[in-house]
Amino acid sequence: MLPEAIRKDFPILERRINGNRLIFFDSAASSLKPIQVIEKMSDFYLYHYSNIHRGIYELSEEATDLYEKSRERIANFINGSSREIIFVRNTTEAINFVSFYLQGKESGRKNIVISGMEHHSNIVPWILLRKRTGKYTMRIIPVTDEGLLDLSSLDKVIGDDTVLVSVTHVSNVLGTINPVKYICKVAHEHNALCMVDGAQSTPHLPIDVKDIGADFFAFSSHKMLGPTGLGVLYVKEKILEEMEPVYGGGGMISEVHCSNDGCVAEWAELPDRFEAGTPHIAGVIGLAAAIEYLERIGLGNIEIHERKLTEKMLEKLQELEGVRIAGPLDIEKKSGIVSFEVNKYTPHELSSLLSMNGVAVRSGFHCAQPLHERLKFTRGTTRASFYLYNTLEEIDDFIGILKKIL
Ligand code: ALA
Repeated sequence: MLPEAIRKDFPILERRINGNRLIFFDSAASSLKPIQVIEKMSDFYLYHYSNIHRGIYELSEEATDLYEKSRERIANFINGSSREIIFVRNTTEAINFVSFYLQGKESGRKNIVISGMEHHSNIVPWILLRKRTGKYTMRIIPVTDEGLLDLSSLDKVIGDDTVLVSVTHVSNVLGTINPVKYICKVAHEHNALCMVDGAQSTPHLPIDVKDIGADFFAFSSHKMLGPTGLGVLYVKEKILEEMEPVYGGGGMISEVHCSNDGCVAEWAELPDRFEAGTPHIAGVIGLAAAIEYLERIGLGNIEIHERKLTEKMLEKLQELEGVRIAGPLDIEKKSGIVSFEVNKYTPHELSSLLSMNGVAVRSGFHCAQPLHERLKFTRGTTRASFYLYNTLEEIDDFIGILKKIL
């Protein structure tokens, strides 16, 4: 079934770039969008649009219903409940959101553990938290030369002073799939909280937040066929109940009163108290449509298809002289991301040359400079990342183009 039956849903794939057929290998940065998602969003704007949770009139009730049913679908997709889903702008904002929660939490603990393969969005919020509070140390789960997490000393890295362990599920550079269930188990043994950055896993693998045991799980709509500007933060209900809102404004309160002594407010029910202001209503509806699309195909089928693409890419790249691949070569340990460097060109030069031949890849440090330093890819890498619409022929064509360039 994949990918032939679905490519027609992505008209952009018919584009020609510099006279060549587009080969889109940059889905880890952002995925393409199928017609079904665009149509669902435009149908909402054209025929059902109004603000939500505010009007006692037909259209507003219709829009509220569409929004809340979408929340339910999104929650089900990761096996959470609707009350545990907060909509934010992206995974980055979700992680920052958790950093504000920690800022207000008095636990007596002041250490945060991350891994050595984090995106900057799971590093910089903790640097900022330290700046804001003057406390919080960081410890790092090391990365092996193969590009896996070294869990041999996990019990030492996570200590009884650790308040939060925050790790990526799938590396955005190496594609490495991390054992987040085990990491959360060890975190909990130390009474620490566990956060999983699911930006690169949720689009590609079946996710069950309950099975993982994560206290927080974040992902972005735009990497999984949905619109930009929408991220999802799952928070275990019992934590949400004790969390203070991060943003204040309309929609997140039940009452506000002002007197000469100042103003006071009471919060709305979960999860509304965490969504101040008018949210990205069409985005939420679009993400639910994207999930419907992905579920129709089946995450398991998507995983199998991407594995075939990745296996072929790894095999062909290894046949070329002067190419060094970052991360594990064992297909069982990784998702559909292949980053590499070539002797002859910098990643940006190679990316430009590939673009002249119609190929879209990302080059540089991919917002993960410490990982590149650790694995000694000092100039960065060129990254090819796949999704359900990519074909095995595209891999052949890509390798042909790369050989010609080299
Ligand atoms: N985080 C996205 C990437 O890795 C943008 O490309």
